[in-house]
Amino acid sequence: MNKPFNQHWTKQHASDLYGVDDWGAGYFGISDKGLLTVSSNNTASTRDVPLLQIMQDVKERGLDAPVLLRFEDLLEQQICRLNDAFNAAIAASGYKGEYRGVFPIKVNQQCHVIEEIAEVGARYGHGLEAGSKAELIIALAHIESKEANIVCNGYKDQEFIDLGLQARKIGYSCFFVLETPTELPIILERSRALGIKPLIGVRVKLASVVGGHWNATSGDRSIFGLSIAQLVDVVDQLKTEGMLDCLQLLHYHLGSQIPNIRDIRNGVVEACQVYMDLVREGAAMGFLDLGGGLAVDYDGSKTNYIHSKNYTLDEYCADIVDVVISTLDPENITHPTIITESGRATIAYSSVLVFNVLDVASYTPGSLPSAIPETEHQLIHNLKETLEHISVKNLQECYNDGLFYRDEVRELFKRGQINLRSRSLAENLFLVILERIIEVAEDAPRAPKEIRKLREHLSDIYYCNFSLFQSLPDVWAIDQIFPIVPIHRLDEAPTREAIIADITCDCDGRIDRFTSINNPKTSLPLHPLIEGQEYYIGVFLVGAYQETLGDLHNLFGDTNVASVRFNEDGSYEFADEIEGDSIADVLSYVEYNPQNLREKFRKIAERAVKQGRISASERQTIMKAFSASMQGYTYYEKE
Ligand SMILES: Cc1ncc(COP(=O)(O)O)c(C=O)c1O
Repeated sequence: MNKPFNQHWTKQHASDLYGVDDWGAGYFGISDKGLLTVSSNNTASTRDVPLLQIMQDVKERGLDAPVLLRFEDLLEQQICRLNDAFNAAIAASGYKGEYRGVFPIKVNQQCHVIEEIAEVGARYGHGLEAGSKAELIIALAHIESKEANIVCNGYKDQEFIDLGLQARKIGYSCFFVLETPTELPIILERSRALGIKPLIGVRVKLASVVGGHWNATSGDRSIFGLSIAQLVDVVDQLKTEGMLDCLQLLHYHLGSQIPNIRDIRNGVVEACQVYMDLVREGAAMGFLDLGGGLAVDYDGSKTNYIHSKNYTLDEYCADIVDVVISTLDPENITHPTIITESGRATIAYSSVLVFNVLDVASYTPGSLPSAIPETEHQLIHNLKETLEHISVKNLQECYNDGLFYRDEVRELFKRGQINLRSRSLAENLFLVILERIIEVAEDAPRAPKEIRKLREHLSDIYYCNFSLFQSLPDVWAIDQIFPIVPIHRLDEAPTREAIIADITCDCDGRIDRFTSINNPKTSLPLHPLIEGQEYYIGVFLVGAYQETLGDLHNLFGDTNVASVRFNEDGSYEFADEIEGDSIADVLSYVEYNPQNLREKFRKIAERAVKQGRISASERQTIMKAFSASMQGYTYYEKE
């Protein structure tokens, strides 16, 4: 429903409403012209570039919405921020070890992303984490710096281990992290067979449990890593083999998106105790790998809420370094190289999904007759009377009455005692009652919560050109919340409240929880559509996990992708443009042969010619349309 905004609307109102300054980490802002901008502030001259302009440029190059915009500079800056923050904490505290981060490939495996991480990471000795043979192959082909580590997690078969051992021979610092005790005999056997000493790490299950979505990854019942008893067995086996010098790394991972710094500190404290005992047992050690968990403040609230974090990057680094120093120093244990496997925080900011709105469904009541006919059912007269008596003092009462009469009408309709037109009149009357209640509630600061929430319940549905399952799978799977903001018209007050529906025709393909500094909101303020003008909405901070986990539900494929790189003068270029999947592509992913489909359809069309239903030339037109569709984008294409 329409929401009046009486003051003069400024970009500050828009920024406050959508929380851009809170979650944008300095990368995103709003221009005086009401455009959502991305900042190119790593170049000599900082410029705020409107996303709308980028979308127009992308469109001119033939890539339509939905488009995933990747900002290489944001990825670069995040890697720099992480390394600089750890190096600053190390320098400030007199820590004697180093920081060597690794990026977990699984968080975003796209070639362009890994190339960028490898290139920027080389400055810092920032390596890669591989969780499978395929990821190890990617890592080996991208890590050139001898300073950078490759950490192999996940289950490793002989082929995986052989490849990692050969990599050792070339000079890679490639660690096998034991996830289960059964991996050790294979590593030892292959090491003997190839005559190559492995670098071994152990992943332990810490007793420390964290809050947030991924807390199942921590504690005794986590499915990954060695129990303390298994760890002791591993140490004994290595001792027996005379290979305790190969055990150099201790790893744990408490879960992704850890919102509370206290949990992070607790994990490090416990891990340091394990680390010190491994040193005392005679293991070479030298590396402490804290896994991932560094959170992203999706809602900008800076709290320990699951979609936020109550610490800054600097605090995260300083706390880790501080805990290691204060635990190890009293025992005279040498400071290890600290590794973190930050994925989400490294990559989330760099991608923005932009889609256009195709249509809007509003819960606007139809017009009412000037008087309710005498012949109408008493319940309908009651609804009309309720409408006429709404005041600041009886909002809840009128709402309850209206709801009751409307529900009674529905019951009578089910029993055939009220016809379609009467029911329609009742539904319209009820909507008008709600509108009136909302209007009056504007002047009633103490209106009951149920009444204040009514505007959200009456929200429009904005049908948008994307697939939730392909582009934002975590929204569906784990109720993840991402910041969502129109990328233009932010100099206008948004007068509609809406939820977002995708085009998969699946009732789960909707977004009805939105970021807000307080609790997530169930609707998003948006602008009414303007005839003949596109309305673009951006979903921000989607660089982590979304591309990788997306699937082909309803056969909507990969979206178009444009990678943007800023130049020294603040201008930008498209470093890469990748066309999204065509329909033929997605059909072949699910094992159809587009050629066979065409042939089958050709036969059906030919039969129609024989039966006299279409002419031969109509068949040609139909076949052309069929072939053109095959090559088309899987998303809604405007002419
Ligand atoms: C072993 C391991 N390391 C690192 C990560 C990345 O975590 P995050 O994205 O929170 O940094 C994960 C993801 O859950 C993981 O399982």
